[in-house]
Amino acid sequence: MKESVDFQDFVDEVIAKNDIVDLISRYTTLKRVGNRYQALCPLHNDQKTPSFSVSPDKQLFHCFGCGAGGTVIHFVMAKENLDFMEAVKLLAEKAGVPIPDPRSQGERDRSAAIHNKKKRMYEMNSEAARFFFSCLTAKGNEKALEYLRGRGLSNSTIKSFGIGYAPDKWSALIDFMKSKGYTLEELLEGGLAKKRDGGTYYDVFRDRIMFPILDVRGNVIAFGGRTLNDNQAKYLNSPETLVYKKKDNLFGMNIAKNSKAGQFLLMEGYMDVVSLHQNGFDNAVASLGTAFTPQQAAVLKRYADKAVLCYDADEAGQKAADRAGTILREADIKTRVLTITDGKDPDEYINAKGGEMFKLLVDNAESFIEYKLGKIEKQYNLEDTVEKIEFIEQIAKILANIKNQVEREVYIKNTARKTDISPESIAAQVQNVILKNKKANIRKDISSDRRTYEARTGGRDDLEKMRLYNAEKLMLNLICEKDVFQNVVKTLTPQDFTEGLHRRLAEIIFKSHTENRKINPMLVISEFPEEDAGRISEILSDDKNVDNKKEAIALPLKIIKSYRLKQEEKTLTDHGDTQKLQEIMNKLKKDKM
Ligand code: UTP
Ligand code: MN
Repeated sequence: MKESVDFQDFVDEVIAKNDIVDLISRYTTLKRVGNRYQALCPLHNDQKTPSFSVSPDKQLFHCFGCGAGGTVIHFVMAKENLDFMEAVKLLAEKAGVPIPDPRSQGERDRSAAIHNKKKRMYEMNSEAARFFFSCLTAKGNEKALEYLRGRGLSNSTIKSFGIGYAPDKWSALIDFMKSKGYTLEELLEGGLAKKRDGGTYYDVFRDRIMFPILDVRGNVIAFGGRTLNDNQAKYLNSPETLVYKKKDNLFGMNIAKNSKAGQFLLMEGYMDVVSLHQNGFDNAVASLGTAFTPQQAAVLKRYADKAVLCYDADEAGQKAADRAGTILREADIKTRVLTITDGKDPDEYINAKGGEMFKLLVDNAESFIEYKLGKIEKQYNLEDTVEKIEFIEQIAKILANIKNQVEREVYIKNTARKTDISPESIAAQVQNVILKNKKANIRKDISSDRRTYEARTGGRDDLEKMRLYNAEKLMLNLICEKDVFQNVVKTLTPQDFTEGLHRRLAEIIFKSHTENRKINPMLVISEFPEEDAGRISEILSDDKNVDNKKEAIALPLKIIKSYRLKQEEKTLTDHGDTQKLQEIMNKLKKDKM
């Protein structure tokens, strides 16, 4: 138990060093009222009554509107959408509290080894980037610089992106890197060299303009190479390596993250990004030769919550914009779509029309929703009744994805005007889709819960156990609320929870409620060994987004109860108690109906 005492000390120190009033006043304006502060709640859409209260003495907050409350940690959990450990870490870093390292010596050694290996790979990539850059001005390579000039790039752009040239030779880079002390194996692992069947090695990038790819911290993690002869793949990209994960990185992000623009311009190509930066758009980035990913959206979201999609005008580009827009919106990034009118891509456009004109396009980009609606509108003839109905169905699918009610209503009204159908009917249709999506999401949740369950218990495909396990988790979350608890306390005891940790947690929750104490997640977590903190905080924070907790309790309660009855049935069958057995079977039947 020593570990968890240390951990509790650590958590206490983190709370003590992060004043709750200081922290929360960064998110909302606090007004002093007596011995506490009042504010509009920064955790829910609180527009009228200041229902949010902070007590500097207790170092606690509470919102009477949305029910959120707790310490600084719980505030950060809710506000930044983090789990308990993530929030503690963030606050610890903020206040300079050293984070205890729970890992064993072996684990620490392993991670130090990986760290060193990564560092060496970053250095190797920088060295390679310097080599490619120097090749631009080396004798015999004049065509490379000419090519870049031909594409309108200035010296300073070439320098700030570190653009280079990989010579048209089989081992120019290999020879250079060997002289710097790097081995063939390292070059192979870094994706810079390949091995022939005969065992000899050759350069991956040959006769290509080289774009170094940097992570947000400025490490060179990979390369994209554009061919200078037309008879092969136009772009060749580094493979994934220890330091390069495609789905997590964006080209240009190392510069764009410092932009003051407040939004990102998302493009398809390396050249688009480079050209845009040269024209003063320091907020241009590109997903790297692959479809835009949710992880990339999360990276953008760390720096700004707005984005403009500037994809190519061709069909492939528009499809990609569609997918990227959906991902961006899911990440809560306000997304607009820019349509390129002249030329194929942003690079061509800006070269032909100039930066002023591009700025005009950016400023007038329509919202992603408008863009989607417009595309659908073009497909239907609204004079035709059948087509009009189908049109509304399609529109409803899109509007159902808008989380903001006001925004949704604006579009519903617009559609109503266009189609001459009442906003109420359209809204009803939208609600239908929302309901359907919710059901589908629950199914998705269940299958992801199932994977977690299998990973944790090693159990395979035991659907019944899995349902029970998840029912217990949700039940534990819901009964943290007193009035929900009161609805089940007559029919449920901690003994009904079959999983060890679930049962202990249930005991604590039941005890707190019976002693009339509010559930304090931090104290609850501290009753468990440190390695369980993640599981406990997951259970306590994941309410599966249920709207009505009292109603949501019905299903897990049924699952838990019927499992208990089945167990009893089994014991009774073993003991041959027919009368009791009949009672149980009646109950089970009743539950099924
Ligand atoms: P494009 O074919 O639109 O090229 O591919 P581009 O960026 O306009 O290049 P230029 O102007 O002809 O030089 C867009 C992006 O898709 C990826 C690259 O990231 C490229 O920038 N791509 C394209 C590849 O990864 N491999 C390819 O073979 C082609
Ligand atoms: Mn192009």
